[in-house]
Amino acid sequence: MKNIVLVGFMGTGKTTVGRALAERLGMEFVELDAEVEEREGMSIKEIFERYGEPYFRDLETEAVKMFSEKEGLVISTGGGVVLRKENMDALRKKGIIICLWADPETILKRTSKNSDRPLLNVPDPLSRIKELLSYRRPFYEQADIMITNDSKDIDEVVKEIMDKLKEKGL
Ligand code: S3P
Repeated sequence: MKNIVLVGFMGTGKTTVGRALAERLGMEFVELDAEVEEREGMSIKEIFERYGEPYFRDLETEAVKMFSEKEGLVISTGGGVVLRKENMDALRKKGIIICLWADPETILKRTSKNSDRPLLNVPDPLSRIKELLSYRRPFYEQADIMITNDSKDIDEVVKEIMDKLKEKGL
């Protein structure tokens, strides 16, 4: 069984949808950010503060490499995983890549509930979201399947993903 890999910007619902999808399909769920935090014994926010983004990106790539070797997982990734080609190449080897997409306003609403995303801890997070989204868009568009997740409920998104997987014979 192939891995199902969820990519997408912060606040697009990767973790919530991934967990529900894994349950529905009886697959194991892995969240790469949580794995990095557990291995380092520190939150992502602390890792950024103490060691900076490039250090975090290396840890993220290590986690990608470790889990993309396995099979039958639903893998939820951090929003920036798409930025390194080596991450995407590794994830694609045994996985199908699904991107969740949402509008900047939806993302702002979802991410402003807490301050655990260092990249959005800026005076004008909406502008930052728009800026990062437009830069990253071509990277997200490399996914095999694109799903928008602005106002749908989780079951709807899960069903849409399952239908698309079926269409692809998976
Ligand atoms: C990041 C997204 C975060 C986390 C880190 C960087 C990004 O994950 O990996 O704060 O660069 O988009 P989520 O997408 O799960 O919030």
